[in-house]
Amino acid sequence: MNPIHLTELAETAHRLVAGGKGLLAMDESNHTCHKRFAALAIPRTAVFRRAWRELIVTTPGLGESISGVILFDETIRDRLADGTPFVKAITDAGIVPGIKVDAGTNELAGHPGEHITEGLDGLRDRLAEYFRLGARFAKWRAVIVIAPGLPSIGCLQANAQALARYAALCQEAGLVPIVEPEVLMDGDHTLEQCAVVTAATLRTLFQQLDGQRVALEGLMLKPNMILPGLTCPRQETAEEVADATVQCLLRTVPAAVPGIAFLSGGQPSELASARLNAMNVRFRGRLPWVVTFSYSRAIQQPALELWRGHEANGPVAQQELRLRAQRNRAAQLGRYNPGPGADIPVAEDGDQMVG
Ligand code: 13P
Repeated sequence: MNPIHLTELAETAHRLVAGGKGLLAMDESNHTCHKRFAALAIPRTAVFRRAWRELIVTTPGLGESISGVILFDETIRDRLADGTPFVKAITDAGIVPGIKVDAGTNELAGHPGEHITEGLDGLRDRLAEYFRLGARFAKWRAVIVIAPGLPSIGCLQANAQALARYAALCQEAGLVPIVEPEVLMDGDHTLEQCAVVTAATLRTLFQQLDGQRVALEGLMLKPNMILPGLTCPRQETAEEVADATVQCLLRTVPAAVPGIAFLSGGQPSELASARLNAMNVRFRGRLPWVVTFSYSRAIQQPALELWRGHEANGPVAQQELRLRAQRNRAAQLGRYNPGPGADIPVAEDGDQMVG
């Protein structure tokens, strides 16, 4: 790869993880967005999708804690109610716009119960367009299921290869690829089983990234934490999760990768922050990459529950969103304090942060 091009990618990747900040995923497909709206009796329309996303990106002070937002296709082309393009509002807030480019998952032929992520056809042209629209990074999510006899090697390989081809196309287009192989939390599997499956997933992924000549300095990894299944009777402490997660990542993720930004995957917001915090408390200064957050539900959900589609609730929902973002920034710095609702002063250099 052209060295100037790689320098730019590496700079963007570093900017996304610098200063204790992390990413906010707001790239739900219409289907997923409507599922979350339906649970709160919010009308499932384009008008409400836009209103919610406008509320997010116009949250005062969001850029103190959030380095980048991941948008869905309809939002990167959309405008706020006052006519300002979303991308301009985001960049004016000091936040880097990103874009989800996968086309969702479908059943993997010959592999009952497993899925493959689609969207490679026409991707080169779509990436060029997203770059013109202002995106500087992209996201592609693969899902891996843990169940008796699963995942299969075929599923790990097919998804890793799709992720690697996507990543190579992103780098060619000047976009930092966020590579997201998500081992799902559903099921009663143990933390140890999650560790084994995640390690196999990441080893397969990095082999494929190498095979497709992806520059590790110019990408970000978005993995799951090492967690017990949601219905596993034994639920480990934040410290045990932190230790298992860091051990797995040290064994599988090359040091050249600048940053690892976890997905929340349905963890309660406070737990997602506490577990990230535990990693940064226990291992700060001893890891080759920055570990941060790229949460959707763990940042958005408490605010969405306050908003419920009512304009009058906007300010309180924005306060909650800002607070969740601040708390995750505190967790990135190993300074998270799960006390009830106290506001968190944020210093520019992060030094006076108490949250
Ligand atoms: P969650 O944090 O809700 O898992 O979402 C992250 C994401 O971007 C999923 O692709």
